Amino acid sequence: MTTTTQTQLNQEEIKPAIGSRILNTKEELLSGDIAGEIRDLLEARGVLVFPQINFTPEEQVAFTKTLGTFAPEGDDEGVTKITLDVKENPQSAEYLKGSLYWHIDGTRNEVPILASLLSCKVPSPKGTGNTGFSNTYSAYDALPDETKAEIDDLHVLHAPWASLFYYSPEPALAMLKGMQSIGEKELPLVWEHASGRKSLVLGCTSHHVIGVDHQKSAEIIHGLREWATGPEFTYSHEWEVGDLVIWDNTGTMHRAEAYDPECGRMMLRTKLEGEEPWAS
Ligand code: OGA
Ligand code: MN
Repeated sequence: MTTTTQTQLNQEEIKPAIGSRILNTKEELLSGDIAGEIRDLLEARGVLVFPQINFTPEEQVAFTKTLGTFAPEGDDEGVTKITLDVKENPQSAEYLKGSLYWHIDGTRNEVPILASLLSCKVPSPKGTGNTGFSNTYSAYDALPDETKAEIDDLHVLHAPWASLFYYSPEPALAMLKGMQSIGEKELPLVWEHASGRKSLVLGCTSHHVIGVDHQKSAEIIHGLREWATGPEFTYSHEWEVGDLVIWDNTGTMHRAEAYDPECGRMMLRTKLEGEEPWAS
């Protein structure tokens, strides 16, 4: 008689509304045997943590490829260095300042990135530089029915230049124009996914709600952001060297919590290509 050993997904919940920890070995993850289950769990839980899995950059790329279509960015190894340190990241340290505020990656894309994978090479000192995540499916689901009815058909103009004012309140005109040249995009405030589930589309790129008085527009954007980033729907990950975290970029927001740009914090990111366009 032959026996086949099947890899079992080994996971535990972090908080009721968000996050699971996956405890499988590196070999089990790289085999791809449980890739389908990981994808389902990612959609269900928003954020998956792989504690001290210690992938090399090549392994992080290989693991990313087991989960879907690899979205190329970054260096020759296929990973992108994420740090606010201008010495390490002369091109994008400035742009990354926006990542200190709640956001969704790539709101200007026709098809938003499905997921981002971030691994920790060098953590910042404890108490700084966690990454926060908000489950925007759970946050929408828990809204009162009358609020859902009010917001279901609204649209929001998203613009990277709107996030510039969060960290540079009096920008030089050249900087403002540079950010404006990246583009803008109108997105639904409530995204009804092909699955039928609905999530909130918010974050620091939200400029205004289309066709709504400007004060009311700000109340909607900031009120829902406050709601979605409250304790019930959020998880703050304190990094250890070697941790890997994946977030479902279509059903979560995230942000880096403040850290000293010169403390050496160094993260490596890979991304999965999106599979579903924004609803219109
Ligand atoms: C990102 C990002 C947050 C962090 O890589 O897209 O927002 O904690 N990173 O570095
Ligand atoms: Mn980001």
